[in-house]
Amino acid sequence: MAEYDRAAELKAFDETKAGVKGLVDAGITEIPRIFHHPKSDDYTKNSSSVSGETQLSIPVIDLKGLDKGDIQRKEIVEKIGQASESSGFFQIINHGISESVLEEMKEGVRRFFEQETEVKKELYTRDPMRPLSYNSNFDLYSGVSTNWRDTFMCYLAPNPPKPEDLPIVCREILLEYSKQVMKVGILLLELFSEALGLNPNHLFDIDCAEGLAVLCHYYPPCPQPELTMGASNHCDNDFLTVLLQDQIGGLQVLNDDQWIGVSPQPGALVINVGDLLQLISNDRFKSVEHRVVSSHEGPRVSIASFFCTGMIPTSKLYGPIKELLSENNPPIYKETTVRDYCAYFKAKGLGGKILDHFKLDKTE
Ligand code: OGA
Ligand code: NI
Repeated sequence: MAEYDRAAELKAFDETKAGVKGLVDAGITEIPRIFHHPKSDDYTKNSSSVSGETQLSIPVIDLKGLDKGDIQRKEIVEKIGQASESSGFFQIINHGISESVLEEMKEGVRRFFEQETEVKKELYTRDPMRPLSYNSNFDLYSGVSTNWRDTFMCYLAPNPPKPEDLPIVCREILLEYSKQVMKVGILLLELFSEALGLNPNHLFDIDCAEGLAVLCHYYPPCPQPELTMGASNHCDNDFLTVLLQDQIGGLQVLNDDQWIGVSPQPGALVINVGDLLQLISNDRFKSVEHRVVSSHEGPRVSIASFFCTGMIPTSKLYGPIKELLSENNPPIYKETTVRDYCAYFKAKGLGGKILDHFKLDKTE
C-alpha cells in the first residue's frame, strides 16, 4: 500500500464523531484506507478449507438440567470444563434470560446507533472515566488495524451509573439486561469453580464478578468486507465474557490454525474464557483468539458483557490459584492487578495474544 499520513487520517475520522456508521450513511462505496487490514495468513485460515479431519465445533450447552439433580449438574460442569480447556468458547441455552429481554437489548443497541448523529456526537469520547463512552475503535490510535465497527460501553459494576447517564433510548433495557447478565455470570463462575475442582464459591469469592462492563457493538454493512475486519483477532481482557449476538454471524474462533464460526442460535448466549481466567487457572482454561469478519450484510449488533473492573483502580493481586498448583503444575504467571493487566492490553490494542507478557519466565 502506498505511503500515506495514517495518523492524520485517523484523526480526521475521529473528529467526525460519526463513527463507521457515518461513513456508511454518507454512501461511500470504497472504504477509506485506514480500514485496510494487512493481508495475512489469517485470510487463508478458513473453516471451509479443512479436508476430511473432524474439526472442533463450539458446543451448545443446555443449562436446563441444573435444577434436575446432581447427575445432570455434574454432566453440565464436565461439558463446561471440557470446552473451557479446549476451544475456550461455548454457547448456553436455558440460562434464565428471556427471549424478550434478549430481543429488546439488541433493539435498544440498534436504537442507540440509529438515532440522530448530532445526538450521538454529544456522547462521543475517549475518556474512560465518563459513565458512558461511545466511539469507534477504542484503540484507534494505538492499534495496528482499524476495524469496521462502532461501540458504546459503560460499567454497570462495581459502581452502577446514574440512570440519567444512560441513553434514554436503551436505559431501561440496559439496566435490566445487565442485572440478569450479572446473575448468569455468577452462575458461570460457580460452574467454572466446580469444573476446576474448587469450592463452588471460589471464583466469586475472589471477586471475579466485581466488575461488569457492557460493550454494545454495531457493525455497519461493509462495501468491501474482504479488505477489513469487524474486529481483529484478539483475546478478551477479562475473567469471562457473555456475548449476545444477532442472527447475522461473523464471529470466529481460532482453533488449530482454523477459524471456526460461532453460529448464531436463537436465545443462546456465547460464553468465553478471558485472559484473567486463563491466568488464575494457570493455563487449564484457555482464553482463545477470536475475531469478527466484515460482511455486506448488516448492520450486525452484539453485546459483550465483560466481567472485569478494567481501568478502575484496584490493589488486589491475581495470580495462579494456589489450590490448583502442585509440584507438577508450578505457577506459570506472575501476580498482577486487573488494572495493570488492562493498561497493558489497552496500550497494545486489539491483535493477538498478550498473556505471555505476564509469564514468570518473562524477564522484560
Ligand atoms: C469483544 C468481541 C465479538 C462480537 O467484544 O471482545 O469479541 O461478536 N465481540 O461482537
Ligand atoms: Ni472479544
